[in-house]
Amino acid sequence: MQYFSISEIKGWDRFYRTNFINSLQGYKPVSLIGTINEKGQKNLAIFSNIVHIGADPALIGFINRPVEAAPHTISNIKITGHYTINHVHTSFIAAAHQTSAKYASDTDEFGTVGLTPSFKEGFLAPFVGESHIQYGLQLVEIVPISHNNTFLVIGNITHVFLNEGLVQKDGFIDAEKAGTVASLGIDGYYTTGLVDRYEYAKPGRAPRKLDRF
Ligand SMILES: Cc1cc2nc3c(=O)[nH]c(=O)nc-3n(C[C@H](O)[C@H](O)[C@H](O)COP(=O)(O)O)c2cc1C
Repeated sequence: MQYFSISEIKGWDRFYRTNFINSLQGYKPVSLIGTINEKGQKNLAIFSNIVHIGADPALIGFINRPVEAAPHTISNIKITGHYTINHVHTSFIAAAHQTSAKYASDTDEFGTVGLTPSFKEGFLAPFVGESHIQYGLQLVEIVPISHNNTFLVIGNITHVFLNEGLVQKDGFIDAEKAGTVASLGIDGYYTTGLVDRYEYAKPGRAPRKLDRF
């Protein structure tokens, strides 16, 4: 196997090192976060450091880079307390990727990249009309990570919107059928293919594949 020590890695060119470290973790979910500010200015940005925190209450977290690097999403969430997370599909990867550009705070990324803001009754933040898996969240907590000035933004899921036919009979959401992509590093996008699903594992019992669902 190839071996790399952290002292060797630290000596590499910045872009090479960033690509290496960012892709080391493997595939990640990638979604668009939609927000609005106090003046009604919409904002949309792509995020891949998204993590399940708990099922009940239904909590999702994401990592926001230091505010100087990624200011708008986190500041809008602080102001309004609401945001949306929208899966990215193969049909609009380029537009989704483009939202990572450092646009000015008065730029509406929806219009600029060609995605459709979708407002739902009683929810402040915009969803992405093109996305087949959309959910709305209410801010619970922003945890500062002092070591590198990033933030873990935690939200409670309050609304879920799915295209018809994506929920299987046991509640599993078929993201592959929705055309959802995964990401690797900060510029690689992948389609997915289910290998198998398994029953809940128990000590002393051989793994069992789930019957077709
Ligand atoms: C594939 C991909 C994934 C990204 N994931 C994150 C992330 O998890 N957290 C983050 O802060 N920025 C992430 N970014 C960078 C943001 O999209 C970028 O900083 C954006 O301009 C933030 O916009 P905002 O200031 O409107 O929030 C990612 C970029 C790409 C291309």
